[in-house]
Amino acid sequence: MKETIINNNIFKQYISEDEITNIVSDIANKINASNTKKPLFISVLNGSFLFAADIMRKITIPNVEISFIKLSSYEGMKSSGEIRKLIGINSDISGRNIILLEDIIDTGNTLEKIIELLTKKKVGSIKVATLLFKPEAYKKDIHIDYIGKSIENDFVVGYGLDYDEIGRNLPHIYKLKN
Ligand code: IMP
Ligand code: MG
Repeated sequence: MKETIINNNIFKQYISEDEITNIVSDIANKINASNTKKPLFISVLNGSFLFAADIMRKITIPNVEISFIKLSSYEGMKSSGEIRKLIGINSDISGRNIILLEDIIDTGNTLEKIIELLTKKKVGSIKVATLLFKPEAYKKDIHIDYIGKSIENDFVVGYGLDYDEIGRNLPHIYKLKN
């Protein structure tokens, strides 16, 4: 499927399923090579659920764990700037080596909030892995350790990413056609 329509907007195929597979393998290989001790992956829901599922199957470091966090900053296609914490981490994660899994980093507001929250929990270290990154939109100084692909400042859907909750199931990533 080269095009898809969501809420009367036309999206065209941008990153194929095969390319996504290669990007995810690439990040997994880098994380494996880092030999992080007993890492705790934290997947940021909802967007990173497919990325998290695919990357975890490629992680070969012993004693890995995964947990999930849910925050939201988007309504429609524009960041509201407002971030709500929806689901947190309840167990003791002090001293743990965290590897955050994000679907996409846009302004960096969400990332900043999550890092603030994790720092309060006195974690040992935090590394950030994101499938997609929008360098033109990024406003923060936080270092991103693993970037799958840097993209232009376009709105994208598919492979976990939504437009008003629609499109997360698409195996390819699509971008808005204007
Ligand atoms: P940020 O806080 O501005 O970095 O935005 C991060 C969150 O906004 C991501 O985790 C996504 O859920 C959402 N988001 C940002 N850009 C896009 C996009 O192009 N398509 C779909 N969701 C996006
Ligand atoms: Mg979203």
